[in-house]
Amino acid sequence: MSRRRLLGTAGAAGATGLVLGAAGGATGYAASQDDAPAALTSVGSTEVMFHGKHQPGITTPLQARGHLVAFDLAPGAGRKEAAALMRRWSAAAQRLMAGEPLNGGTAHDTGIALDAGPSSLTVTFGFGATFFERTGLTGHRPPGLDPLPPFSADHLDAGRSDGDLWVQIGADDALVAFHALRAVQKEAAAAATVRWQMDGFNRTPGATARPMTARNLMGQIDGTGNPQPADSDFDQRVFVAARGDDAAYDWLAGGSYAVVRRIRMLLDDWEKLPVKRQERVIGRRKADGAPLSGGTETTAMDLDKAGPDGKLLIPDNAHARISSPERNGGAAMLRRPFSYHDGMSSDGTPDAGLLFICWQADPLRGFVPVQRKLDRGDALSPFLRHEASGLFAVPGGAADGEYVGQRLLEA
Ligand code: HEM
Repeated sequence: MSRRRLLGTAGAAGATGLVLGAAGGATGYAASQDDAPAALTSVGSTEVMFHGKHQPGITTPLQARGHLVAFDLAPGAGRKEAAALMRRWSAAAQRLMAGEPLNGGTAHDTGIALDAGPSSLTVTFGFGATFFERTGLTGHRPPGLDPLPPFSADHLDAGRSDGDLWVQIGADDALVAFHALRAVQKEAAAAATVRWQMDGFNRTPGATARPMTARNLMGQIDGTGNPQPADSDFDQRVFVAARGDDAAYDWLAGGSYAVVRRIRMLLDDWEKLPVKRQERVIGRRKADGAPLSGGTETTAMDLDKAGPDGKLLIPDNAHARISSPERNGGAAMLRRPFSYHDGMSSDGTPDAGLLFICWQADPLRGFVPVQRKLDRGDALSPFLRHEASGLFAVPGGAADGEYVGQRLLEA
C-alpha cells in the first residue's frame, strides 16, 4: 500500500479527512503554487498498486464506477500477438493506475483524466477458455475453466457472454474509468476486438462518514457475508495456490477465477412487495442488513432460531440461508459487484440489475454449487434473470518488470 493509498483510506474513513484533503492539500498530489493544478482530495489521490502478488481490483474496496469489457483475439492473432497485447495493456494499466498519462505507443493520451489523479483506478485482466485454443496453449488451460453448467434461471445472450480476454476497470471517478477503458480499447489495436462491454456503478466513497457495505438496486445491503481478508482461510478460498505437483498451471498461482453474470432485476415486481416480505426473501433486514434472527449487520445468522409461532426466523428459502457457506459444504466466494442501469426497455421496465462478479480459488467450490442450490429454491430467483455469463482465469499479479500473464505466455 502506497503512502497515497494510506492517506486515501484515512480520508475516506472520515468526512474530516476529505475536507482536509480538498482544502488543505494534505495529499501527495497537493500543489502549492497558484498556477499549479488544483490539489486533489483523498478520492482523487488514492492509488492502488499495479504490481503485487495478486492483481488489483479483487480485494480493492468497491469503486464508484466500473467497466467490464471482453475481447476476442483478431483472426490470425495467436500467442505472439497476445503476449505483445498483454505487455501493452500492463504498461498502460500501470501508468494510469499511478495517475500518469500514457506516454506514446499505440494510444497517445486523450487527456480525459487530467486533473483527477489515480482515483483508485484498477485494471484487472483475465483469460477465457477460448483464449487457450487461440494461442495454442490448451495444455495450460486449467480445469477450473471448464464451462459452467446450465441453470434454469439462465436467459443467456451468447453475444454478451464469454470472450477470449476480459478486462475489469474500476475507479472512483467516471472520467478516470472511461479514460482507462479508451486506453485499453485503443491498445488492443489490431490484436483484439471488443466482444461486449458493460458499465456499472456503486456508492461513491466518502458519501458516508464511515465505510459502509454497499446497497444494490433492490435496496439491500449486499456484501455482508463476504469472506474477509483477515479470515485465516481467505486466501485459500479466493486465490489459486501454487500447486507444485502440476507445472502446467503454475502460471495461475496467486490468481483467481472470476465468474461474471449480468443479472437483471425485475424491479417492478420486486418493488410491489412490502418491505417485510422483501426481508423474508433475503433473510436480513432491509434498513441495516441485520439477520432476521436478530443482532446487527455483523451478527452471525442463527439459521435454527424460530419465532413464537415455531417458524424459522430466517425462512427455508431465504437467499442468505441458501447461499451461506455453512449450507454449502463451506463453498464461499468473494462477491464484488457493480450495479448497472442501461435505460428503460420498450415495455417501460428498467434494464437494471447487478453485474455480479465473484472471485474464488475454484469455481466448483464457489459459484457452481451455490448457484445450483439457488436455482432450485431461492426466494429471490423469481425477481432475477441471468442474462449473460462469463468465466475467466485471472493470473496472479505481475512482479516488477513483468506483464500480466507473462508466466503463461512465455511458459
Ligand atoms: C442480483 C442478484 C443477487 C442479489 C440482489 C443478491 C443479494 C444478496 C443479499 C442482499 C445478501 C445478504 C447480504 C450479504 O451477505 O451480502 C446476499 C448474500 C449472499 N449471496 Fe446473493 N444476491 C444475488 C445473487 C447471488 C448469486 C448469483 C450468488 C452465487 C451463486 C449469490 C451468493 C451469495 C452469497 C454466498 C451470500 C452470502 C451468504 C452468507 O454468507 O451467509 N448471490 N445476496
